[in-house]
Amino acid sequence: MDQQISTSIVSAKGITKEYLLGRTIVPALRGIDLDVQKGEFLAISGPSGSGKTTLLNIIGLIEKPTAGNVFIDGIEIQNQNDNTLSEIRAHRIGMIFQQFNLIPVLSAYENVEYPLYEKKMSRLERADRVKKWLDWVGIGSFQNHRPMELSGGQRQRVAIARTMAASPLLVLADEPTANLDHKTGLEILELMKTINESHQTTFIFSTHDPKVMERASRIVRIADGLLC
Ligand SMILES: Nc1ncnc2c1ncn2[C@@H]1O[C@H](COP(=O)(O)OP(=O)(O)OP(=O)(O)O)[C@@H](O)[C@H]1O
Ligand SMILES: [Mg+2]
Repeated sequence: MDQQISTSIVSAKGITKEYLLGRTIVPALRGIDLDVQKGEFLAISGPSGSGKTTLLNIIGLIEKPTAGNVFIDGIEIQNQNDNTLSEIRAHRIGMIFQQFNLIPVLSAYENVEYPLYEKKMSRLERADRVKKWLDWVGIGSFQNHRPMELSGGQRQRVAIARTMAASPLLVLADEPTANLDHKTGLEILELMKTINESHQTTFIFSTHDPKVMERASRIVRIADGLLC
């Protein structure tokens, strides 16, 4: 394994993605090469339809590229079976979404706790992790609130706690501030940055917002499925 691959948390080589829409081929990504080092706080910016979500979903192992190769933490993804991909996703990758994606009938506490049932851990450890992360994101006193009883910023904080409780190495956030007012969006980004610095968690997030981009340690720009 060469040096570059071993220090990269993400290495994408020649990624293309084509969608079939009826009989039309839509080229969403047209040959992306991207290396992301451990600990980066990387922004992906680009206009609507440029391929940001597609790229994040491929790095997050939710979608498969049409061609090209992705390495996550040095592991070559191509040719891995679905079980292995699920394992890699569960142990290394966390996702944060524009729409927060919380479960409406569960409290903030239960939303953070829920994915941890998939992991082998004692009840006590589970409770410790949930409490630790709810406090970390400043939602400790709202732990019994359901998503409907929280503001947008508070919902995104719960979503961040849920992601972080699983101890991911890499967090992918697709326009995490797009449904928030400007000030709240910047607060959420500040929270992500604090986690990035204190836990050395790598973050890759997409955004349209120049103020959000300013906080990144590096910005890559995408247009028409190509980095530019
Ligand atoms: N499931 C799909 N089927 C067909 N075409 C798709 C599909 N998903 C995405 N596309 C197309 O791929 C291209 C890239 O889309 P993508 O959602 O990655 O862009 P984006 O940069 O995230 O845009 P936005 O800023 O609006 O979220 C677009 O042309 C889009 O229409
Ligand atoms: Mg998108």
